[in-house]
Amino acid sequence: MTIAVKSTAKPSDRFDPIPSWRAAPVDVRVVSDIPAGATVVGIPVPSDGDVPERAGFDRATLDASDFTAGIGETLVLPQIDGPLVVESGLGPRAGLGGAAVRDSVAWFAQRAHRHADLVVDLRGLQGVDAGTLGQAATEGAVLARYRYRVFADRPADLPLASLTLVVDAGALNGVREGAARGLLLARATNLARDLCNAPATHLTATRFGDVAREIGPQVGLDVEVFDQRQLVEMGCGGILGVNAGSNEEARLIKLTYRPAGTPTGSLGLVGKGVMYDAGGISLKPSDAMHALMKLDMSGAAAIFGAMTTLRDLGGRATVTGFLCCTDNMPSGTATRLGDVLTIRGGKTVEVVNADAEGRLVMADGIALAVEDRVDAIVTIATLTGAALRTFGSAVAPVMGNDAALVSELRAAGDATDEPLWELPLIRKYRRQLDSKIADIKNMGGVDAGSITAGLFLEDFVAGTPFGHLDICGPMVVDKDDAWRPTGATAFGTRLLATFAAAFRPTRP
Ligand code: BES
Ligand code: ZN
Ligand code: MN
Repeated sequence: MTIAVKSTAKPSDRFDPIPSWRAAPVDVRVVSDIPAGATVVGIPVPSDGDVPERAGFDRATLDASDFTAGIGETLVLPQIDGPLVVESGLGPRAGLGGAAVRDSVAWFAQRAHRHADLVVDLRGLQGVDAGTLGQAATEGAVLARYRYRVFADRPADLPLASLTLVVDAGALNGVREGAARGLLLARATNLARDLCNAPATHLTATRFGDVAREIGPQVGLDVEVFDQRQLVEMGCGGILGVNAGSNEEARLIKLTYRPAGTPTGSLGLVGKGVMYDAGGISLKPSDAMHALMKLDMSGAAAIFGAMTTLRDLGGRATVTGFLCCTDNMPSGTATRLGDVLTIRGGKTVEVVNADAEGRLVMADGIALAVEDRVDAIVTIATLTGAALRTFGSAVAPVMGNDAALVSELRAAGDATDEPLWELPLIRKYRRQLDSKIADIKNMGGVDAGSITAGLFLEDFVAGTPFGHLDICGPMVVDKDDAWRPTGATAFGTRLLATFAAAFRPTRP
């Protein structure tokens, strides 16, 4: 007979939240000839114009085999006496750029999932500069082969060990530099994916703080982790109010990157780190979407991943990340509807829906960034289901109070193929957040939910240039899609890294 005893061991105790970070980096080589002994070679093929000679067939033959070289199409060609050849569509030559290369190499890497060592023949690709080519190809392969293997083996999917890029001799150096950047950004993204995919009971706010303390010093970041007692002293009533129903403590993780030399400016990044969003006492129903609520810390994970790259990218601005971490649970001690929370700095919020918790935790983070007198604040959060309804899973809305800042964010989104589209902060709707008993309430009406959430956050920026990304839509995919394998995407990691490394104040 087994007697059930209440164990004091927690799932988080013996769990490694960051296996992708601990694994050896993919060995990326850039050469000018197909290496002897290659077991699989990928050949990106444009969908119009001449077929690259090394692809071995003319257009009519490819068409006749139903391979029209669109993105996502692959033609797998086993050889009697040589490596497996996989032709992978690049789409039209017009507008060929990093996004097509990333996609094409990613689909090749997916099709070659039984191979640990990949070779990609990129010779003769016109119209893409060498740096972009190396970066996009490396990101495509390394991101596509990410798998979350912590709880189950995936024998059919070999981890990627090496990637060899074959390029024109004149492009070797440029492609090498780009490939190093691509590997850095892909590793940062896969680190963030590990954190997102970790079950909420395994990756608690406390454990997230431990990870930050471990990784930060390796990548040149200062890390401060504020615990429950310190959050009380600091008056972080938003984070504490959301945490009130939980048995797990909250953490505010502050990451600081200081460039060598005089900083060109200072940027504050504030991330929603809701480790699990049950909805608080506004309890969510048990549908499929809500089984994904362990991903509600995707904004915080994206900032963490992005900031690991700043030193190696040569970022010249000071960047401070505020990760606002807690879960949002119902219980007898949970925040009740009608309760009033006092945010850091003194502003009061009437809680009219316990499931609109992201903006509450972020308000404390924004207030702290304002105190640091940063030149701009960028927030990132899985904030509203309305953002998913509006743009679906391919695009995230960006909102802000500064056109130049919004346009820089959009440019970083285009460069990384993490696309943003602007929603207006319609000031007229601010009155939906008026409270009869406090400075503001935490939810507006049923319509324009992404915008009223943005307006709530804007209320705390005190005039600082502000941009806000609502990544609810693209945070996850339910089937492998080029460089986004099933599960957490860590959308925003490469975007924020690119944006933050190049940051300059928009108002001098
Ligand atoms: N974490 C959710 C938003 C979300 C929904 C993320 C679906 C990913 C997938 C957020 O905290 C939330 O509950 N938002 C509410 C806001 C509402 C109560 C004002 C929503 O979108 O319904
Ligand atoms: Zn949430
Ligand atoms: Mn919620």
